[in-house]
Order: sequence, then C-alpha cells, then structure tokens
Amino acid sequence: MEIYRELAGLRAALEAARASGREVALVPTMGALHAGHIALVEAARRPGTTVVASIFVNPRQFGAGEDLSRYPRKETSDIAMLTEAGCDLLWLPPVEQMYPDGFATIVSVSGVSEGLDGAARPGHFDGVATVVAKLFNQVRPTRAFFGEKDFQQLAVVRRMVTDLDVEVEITGVPTQREDDGLALSSRNVYLSPEERQRAVALPRALGIAARAIRGGSDSAKALDDATAALTAAGFEVDYVALVDAETLSPQPTPGRRRQLLAAARLGKTRLIDNLAVDLG
Ligand code: PAF
Repeated sequence: MEIYRELAGLRAALEAARASGREVALVPTMGALHAGHIALVEAARRPGTTVVASIFVNPRQFGAGEDLSRYPRKETSDIAMLTEAGCDLLWLPPVEQMYPDGFATIVSVSGVSEGLDGAARPGHFDGVATVVAKLFNQVRPTRAFFGEKDFQQLAVVRRMVTDLDVEVEITGVPTQREDDGLALSSRNVYLSPEERQRAVALPRALGIAARAIRGGSDSAKALDDATAALTAAGFEVDYVALVDAETLSPQPTPGRRRQLLAAARLGKTRLIDNLAVDLG
C-alpha cells in the first residue's frame, strides 16, 4: 500500500491510476480502524479500481469539550489492517494540509443535518461536510463508501453530493456488530468492561422498538419504552427517534422507509446506533 502525506504526491499517483484506466474509490475514516472500516474497504474493492482510504481526525467535527484530544490514534495497526484488506493507497494528510492558515470555508447542509446529532452536537455536520467535500476534491473518487452506523452523516453526505453536483456515487455499508449486537465503533474502546456489558442495551432497545412498530404498536410508546430501557441500563439518553429514512424528518412520509435512531451516553462514552423499521 502506498502512503501519501502530501497532496501533490497523492494527486500525481491518482492521475497515473486514472490515466491507466483505473477507477478511484474512497473510504474516508478517522482511523482507529475496526472490522466496520474493513467492510468499507472490501465493498470498495473491484477489479480495475484503486481503493484509497483516508485517515484524518478532523478537528472541525468535534465540539468544545468533546473527545478530540483523546480520540484513539493507531496509525501503525491501521496501516497493517488496510494493507491486509487490500487497500491500494492511504491518504494521511497533516492538519496544516487540510486547514492551512487563512482557511475560511464551511460547507453547511441544512435540513437533514439539523435534528438528532445535529442538535446534540452543534457544528458537527458542518465539520463533516467540509472535510468530506475537501476529501472528494483531493481524491476525486467515482465511488465513496460510508458506514450506515453514522446514518445521519450518510444522509448529510448524500444531500451535499446531490446539491453540489459532485460526480461521486455514495454507497452506505451495513453496520458491523459484535456477537451480542453492539455496533462496532472506534469509541467502544472508551467503555469499561462493566459498561461494555451494559452497552448491549442499546441495540436491544432498538430491536424491541423496531419489532413493536413493525407489528403495529403505537410508535410513541415504543420510543418511550426504548428510552426507559436505556435509562434503566444506566444510559443518559440524548434521543430515540423514528424518522423518514431519506429526509430524517420526524414525520415519515407514508409509504417511505422509516429508521429508528438513538444516541445515548454511558459514563463518558456517547454511543449511536440505528435500525431499519421497514424490512425488504
Ligand atoms: O465517519 C467518519 O469517520 C468521519 O466522520 C468522516 C466521514 C471520515 C469525516 O471525518
């Protein structure tokens, strides 16, 4: 795997790949990789495709008091995992490359970015949209891969790509889970062994609520029950919401797919998860 830390080198390598007829696919990450990220690389791999992963812990998507300084950084093991997964090229930009002195542009996506995590983490999705727009311009992929665990992020990226006519096809890759159902996340390392055991309440509560709503139960009651189950397991709940899977509106359009989304804090760790209500 080739590794680039400087934009001119990255662009020259990708120009050469495109000139030889190869397609470029991008897997953007913040590192501390796990099997969820590797599933993105595997989804991106195709004959004739150069797969680029990026690792950049983007300061602009962390709010004041969030975990930027302690966010796990594992460059050596990340490189080993990407190499093993068959990633062709790694883009590892330094922060001065992404945000040089005088940097003054923010990409802000209204609507889909406003509720849920957008309300709980002001500025977060502006930071995400800005860095993803930069990564798209730097790498110029024809396909890009994002995990469905960050469901709202995926909706924000799709909206931005549509609105700004970016020529990239966005693929959402299903959430990878531990055997007990906990969604894989780089932040799971923050959980103490005891919190890790209790964390399974999050996917369980969503599963129970999704089945109840699917079965025709009152959705407000299902959301309240999920909140109560999480609180009983020791979580401090940010939200449990049922939304339109495309617009993320809390009033799903009849006939359109619905998604359950939740965010809750266990000790110092904020976990998010989501589940499709309408299957098939
Ligand atoms: O999902 C992530 O890891 C990040 O939000 C992303 C998309 C790499 C942007 O920094």
